[in-house]
Amino acid sequence: MQIQLTLNGTARQLDVPDHTLLVNVIREHCGLTGTHVGCDTSQCGCCTVHLNGRAVKSCSVLAAHADGAQVTTIEGLGQDGLHPVQEAFSRCHGLQCGFCTPGMIMASVDLLRQIPQPSREQIEEGLEGNLCRCTGYVNIVEAVHEAAQVMQGSQA
Ligand code: FES
Ligand code: FES
Repeated sequence: MQIQLTLNGTARQLDVPDHTLLVNVIREHCGLTGTHVGCDTSQCGCCTVHLNGRAVKSCSVLAAHADGAQVTTIEGLGQDGLHPVQEAFSRCHGLQCGFCTPGMIMASVDLLRQIPQPSREQIEEGLEGNLCRCTGYVNIVEAVHEAAQVMQGSQA
């Protein structure tokens, strides 16, 4: 099956087996291993990427559904320097082992696009599809909260 997509701003044409998942296109066919696989059953959120600007769990999306789409992974987020959400995760120690972090950050960026100034409860709700086995949720929520402040300041 031939698919075409724009991955992190670069047009890609790929020949992949039918029923290939988007996460496998990203990791195996394109070599971008920042998108992680934790469960493969749409529970952990480690595989979260942006599909046409919205966060999706790429282990639950067929490559065929990404045909013609814009896909952004964690590698594409900070192409002009670190994204404010990445900087905030670093400053606030919003990660421990880092396995969940790419998915957390991609989900957080989408959350802040939808709700630029979320309450802590809205951040928790927005990230409830992303699991952290290091139980670093307090600092993750703080990082998203801080990123929202920084991003609002940069737009002022
Ligand atoms: Fe996709 Fe866990 S690997 S949700
Ligand atoms: Fe280890 Fe979240 S930082 S799983």
